[in-house]
Amino acid sequence: MQTAKDKQSIQMSSNVHQTLDRMISKLAGVVPEFELRYKAELAYEINQLKRQRNAIILAHNYMEPALYHSVSDFTGDSLELARISARTEAEIIIFCGVRFMAETAKILNPSRTVLLPAQKAGCSLAASITGDDVRELKKQFPGVPVVSYVNTYADVKAETDICCTSSNAAKVVQYLADQGHERILFLPDEYLARNVAADTGIPIIFPSLPSSGNEVDPKNLERAIIGRHGRCEVHEKFTVEDIENVRRQFPDTVILAHPECNPEVVRASDFSGSTKAMIEYVSANDAPRYLLLTECSMGDNITAENPGKEMLRLCNVRCPHMNLITLQDTLASLKNTQYEITLPSDIIRRARASLDRMLEIS
Ligand code: 13P
Ligand code: SF4
Repeated sequence: MQTAKDKQSIQMSSNVHQTLDRMISKLAGVVPEFELRYKAELAYEINQLKRQRNAIILAHNYMEPALYHSVSDFTGDSLELARISARTEAEIIIFCGVRFMAETAKILNPSRTVLLPAQKAGCSLAASITGDDVRELKKQFPGVPVVSYVNTYADVKAETDICCTSSNAAKVVQYLADQGHERILFLPDEYLARNVAADTGIPIIFPSLPSSGNEVDPKNLERAIIGRHGRCEVHEKFTVEDIENVRRQFPDTVILAHPECNPEVVRASDFSGSTKAMIEYVSANDAPRYLLLTECSMGDNITAENPGKEMLRLCNVRCPHMNLITLQDTLASLKNTQYEITLPSDIIRRARASLDRMLEIS
């Protein structure tokens, strides 16, 4: 005779099967089936617990495909996920991304519990600058507005006038220039700053970089973006040679580069934009083959949505921080309410102002 426990286990295994079927229909040919079988059990458990705990899962576009396609309630780039964080009414936000993104969610919606599944999921750009560094720069350039990339920690955002993301960096800088600001501090990504300078036509200077001897003295330059030397450890590795090699082998390839890449790489590409803009570009185009100069996992997520198109990638270059987030950690995060993002209220208040200004402008 079947016991209540037997019935429960049969029901559960049928539910796991439904989860697996959904994952296979999305990811067949992208992720091996044996991997999906194992991950479907985790995904099912996460989805159950998520509902019980009134939690939502936000997943950045770089998340591994099985997680991205099975447990996320919302996916997106930094800007999109910030907007969603600001308006969610769920009690718990699980941020499948890196620390600065989870902090942004906490700043925008401080009464929610925000959890980051892997405590050490950082970012080389966010680690390249502190609130003290910004205070020093403000002393050096008094009255100059500070634009900080969203890839910074809360203490930097608290010292910032307007935040920006890869989707709106040029727009934010142009907004300040239109308001009559001759000089704008743009922190901390050197390559994003150079790409913004190219887009807006505003000259750029780097007082913190060793001089080549040809630079204009910042004091003599009327109009300028003042940059810093932070780099993304992933995007800085892509080169023009990588593009030339791919174009030689597959001449019909459309090349997409994230704006954290070196401006030479961006110039040699066919399109540059945020992770969301890259996804939309592939969906809207008919070309059969693309090279993605960004974190490799995103190629799997795009392939799943665009089965007929081939995504070329340089998968030897990975983001070690984004790759820390797994389904196992996400489950542990929900079970144990870990790792909670906490920030001082004063930092939240000041950082919030810089994010609100960005959201208003964009
Ligand atoms: P997006 O805002 O374009 O998603 O970029 C975030 C990021 O960290 C890219 O490396
Ligand atoms: Fe930071 Fe680069 Fe990783 Fe994005 S890809 S999270 S910028 S280290």
